[in-house]
Amino acid sequence: MAASKVVPFFLIFISFALPLIRAGKPPKPASPALFIFGDSLFDPGNNNYINTTTLDQANFRPYGETYFDYPTGRFSDGRLISDFIAEHAKLPLIPPYLEPRNKLLRQLMINYHGVNFASAGAGALTETFHGSVIDLKTQLKFYKREVARLSKKIGHANATNILSTAVNLFSIGTNDYISPFLLNSSVIQSQSHSQYVQMVIGNLTIVVKEIYRRGGRKFGFLNLGNLGCLPGLRIVKPETQGECLVEASVLAQLHNNELNKLLPKLEHNLHGFKYFLYDFNQSLARKITQPSLYGFNEGKKACCGIGLFNGIYSCGGKRIVKDFVLCENPSKFIFWDSYHFTENVYKQMADEMWSRGPNNLKKFFQ
Ligand SMILES: *[C@@H]1O[C@H](CO)[C@@H](O)[C@H](O)[C@H]1NC(C)=O
Ligand SMILES: *[C@@H]1O[C@H](CO)[C@@H](O)[C@H](O)[C@H]1NC(C)=O
Ligand SMILES: *[C@@H]1O[C@H](CO)[C@@H](O)[C@H](O)[C@H]1NC(C)=O
Ligand SMILES: *[C@@H]1O[C@H](CO)[C@@H](O)[C@H](O)[C@H]1NC(C)=O
Ligand SMILES: *[C@@H]1O[C@H](CO)[C@@H](O)[C@H](O)[C@H]1NC(C)=O
Repeated sequence: MAASKVVPFFLIFISFALPLIRAGKPPKPASPALFIFGDSLFDPGNNNYINTTTLDQANFRPYGETYFDYPTGRFSDGRLISDFIAEHAKLPLIPPYLEPRNKLLRQLMINYHGVNFASAGAGALTETFHGSVIDLKTQLKFYKREVARLSKKIGHANATNILSTAVNLFSIGTNDYISPFLLNSSVIQSQSHSQYVQMVIGNLTIVVKEIYRRGGRKFGFLNLGNLGCLPGLRIVKPETQGECLVEASVLAQLHNNELNKLLPKLEHNLHGFKYFLYDFNQSLARKITQPSLYGFNEGKKACCGIGLFNGIYSCGGKRIVKDFVLCENPSKFIFWDSYHFTENVYKQMADEMWSRGPNNLKKFFQ
């Protein structure tokens, strides 16, 4: 009895909803979509779904404790720069490409907001932490897959429209320059520093141009900070007793110089290409030099880890070294663990990116 009444309702709903889904009409998005590429600075948990080790994962406590109250896979106590940018743009947090639930949602094409492809440990070079990360080239492959799926669903013109208004954010390079020191590899020794940097920049350029070719027009980049002063790099050479590892910072400087040259060149050569470059280095350097001006009381030591500067990468006790200490108030620290920053740092940086100065990210979303 009851069933015979329920079924028609159900059918009415289906017959109503199906044509809408079939037609695949993209509801006008409230804001441009956000595509996110790169490394742990932006990874919301893609590495939870790949075959890797806990060195490249953060899906255990105390990661995430400040904001999410559970570990999402983000390498921080809370949200990341990319999360705060999404919030500023009035978008939901952009979920990991590999998260199965998100795959289903994207197939329905309801409120398309973009995708996050970033993977902790990733570099522009395929060799960087090879086998444990989704390198930038593979992230591009996933992006192309996403674009093909979009085109099939809503038509080429509609897809291109989404891509051309979308903002493409990049955080890449750090791992290319720190991995040789962490692995004690001879990659850099076998070639000059400037050749190595050219390779990183060359591979980044390929990816940017491919996104441009598919319709991408708005690009946002971060430069690199003094990598040798990450707590994890200060302890690479025990004989220096915690001094910054100058060679790593020099590589980052070379990279920043090349990035400064590359972006105007792309703007000149690629019609309609627009970019935003955030001076991550300067922002970080200011905070480290005068922590109290920015509400921090510890600018050098990590909140979570062990050893000198808590630089041993043991936060959470699931990696090679199991012992770790955890500070009481992460928001007072700049470094969260040996290689990553606290939510408080990421929030301040995202705020600066969003609206400081005449050249800002907000413009891309208007
Ligand atoms: C994951 O990686 C390990 C070590 O590299 C390997 O032995 C294993 O077969 C891999 N598993 C899958 C499902 O690929
Ligand atoms: C593309 O968008 C237009 C209007 O924006 C819409 O009428 C059309 O159905 C869309 N195409 C597809 C294949 O969904
Ligand atoms: C790194 O490699 C160099 C030579 O390639 C060697 O002398 C040195 O002991 C190694 N250091 C570590 C920490 O393995
Ligand atoms: C990209 O990186 C590879 C190494 O992974 C290198 O052989 C190649 O020359 C680089 N490409 C460019 C254009 O720099
Ligand atoms: C970062 O900025 C500081 C201060 O301007 C500068 O001394 C340093 O070389 C820069 N580092 C990098 C990696 O660009």
